[in-house]
Amino acid sequence: MSTDKRRMMITGGAGFIGSHVVRLFVNKYPGYNIVNVDALTYAGNLENLRDVEASPNYTFERADITDAAAISRLFEKYHFDSVIHLAAESHVDRSILDPLAFVKTNVMGTCILLNICRQQWSGDPAHKLFYHVSTDEVYGSLGSTGYFTEETAYDPRSPYSASKASSDHFVMAYYHTYGLPVVLSNCSNNYGSHHFPEKLIPLMINNIKNNRPLPVYGKGENVRDWLYVDDHARAIDTIFHKGRMGEKYNIGGFNEWKNIDIVNLLCRIMDRKLERIPGTSARLITYVKDRPGHDLRYAIDAGKLNKELGWKPSLQFEEGLEKTVDWYLENEAWIKQVTSGEYQHYYDKQYQK
Ligand code: NAD
Ligand code: DAU
Repeated sequence: MSTDKRRMMITGGAGFIGSHVVRLFVNKYPGYNIVNVDALTYAGNLENLRDVEASPNYTFERADITDAAAISRLFEKYHFDSVIHLAAESHVDRSILDPLAFVKTNVMGTCILLNICRQQWSGDPAHKLFYHVSTDEVYGSLGSTGYFTEETAYDPRSPYSASKASSDHFVMAYYHTYGLPVVLSNCSNNYGSHHFPEKLIPLMINNIKNNRPLPVYGKGENVRDWLYVDDHARAIDTIFHKGRMGEKYNIGGFNEWKNIDIVNLLCRIMDRKLERIPGTSARLITYVKDRPGHDLRYAIDAGKLNKELGWKPSLQFEEGLEKTVDWYLENEAWIKQVTSGEYQHYYDKQYQK
């Protein structure tokens, strides 16, 4: 969709990917009015947006997407013509500990947003858009060959992916049933700055730095397809402006890695940057109990997005990983802040301290 002026709601803008999306839109589109709507759960952090918070085209509103009255009030106040919806519970391990929290935010929260958009935009769907940001995990688990395409049948296997799959189905149901203008994307694993250290890459960087054990699930043979977070934000920008209504687009890095190979690579990078004797950090690797229902392999075919809209990843993984490690080493205060309090409780519970 394109017009010079937009009144946008971005949900989950204080989180990892959301903050990169907000930054890109605020800097690139000074004529857009961008409202970041975020409940500031443990994963939301306004520090992620310090560099754009004073921009005249940016506003923050603290609200929970499951609170229909609060979201309706925001629509009355800002007359949004578009939504990019990223707010979610996003961590698979937490979904195993507490599935209902994922049903509440990811399923109910998404339905509440869809319903309000339907009411607000009824009779005038022109130049409106509900963009739903989803995950490749809805497709389930691959064997050693093959790729997820947009035609792959959904087969979610964790409470997290089941909740995201359900939200995707509701988005498409609102398109088919009510004609709500929607677009949807399913992305592979992101990495980069401001990534919460419950996820593999920032958790390993933080633990290597602090000489703590590096908990590798199972044999470390599971494969993920990694994409630099700014490349995901660029893909969202492209799809938001050029994507076809009612379509879904896969986004991926063409970049498959076994977990154990990433952990070893991080150990080598950190040994060099921390001036440790080569091999020191790798001695911290500890194989731990596997994640229940652990999907073996994800790999995305992002050919449709490339052919139709011309998007492709910009950064090589090794280069992106170096930049990511540098960011964590230079932002000690950020990591200290997010690993205090609730994080320690979660960590002890998850890793059975
Ligand atoms: P994140 O956990 O870092 O951030 C989620 C944000 O949503 C936080 O700011 C949090 O405060 C907010 N939030 C959570 N519940 C809320 C609620 N009820 N109301 C309002 N705000 C709420 O997540 P992320 O990794 O940045 O993922 C963002 C989106 O992208 C999610 O929808 C996720 O499913 C999807 N996704 C993530 C990845 C990945 O690798 N991280 C890959 C593909 C898709
Ligand atoms: O594929 C996209 C998805 O990627 C997103 O939808 C999710 O929001 C995001 O969290 C991510 O899910 P994963 O489960 O793939 O990411 P995570 O970083 O939790 O784990 C990556 C791999 O590393 C996975 O195979 C599990 C493994 N792992 C993870 C942790 C936290 C470990 O071996 N040890 C760990 O301590």
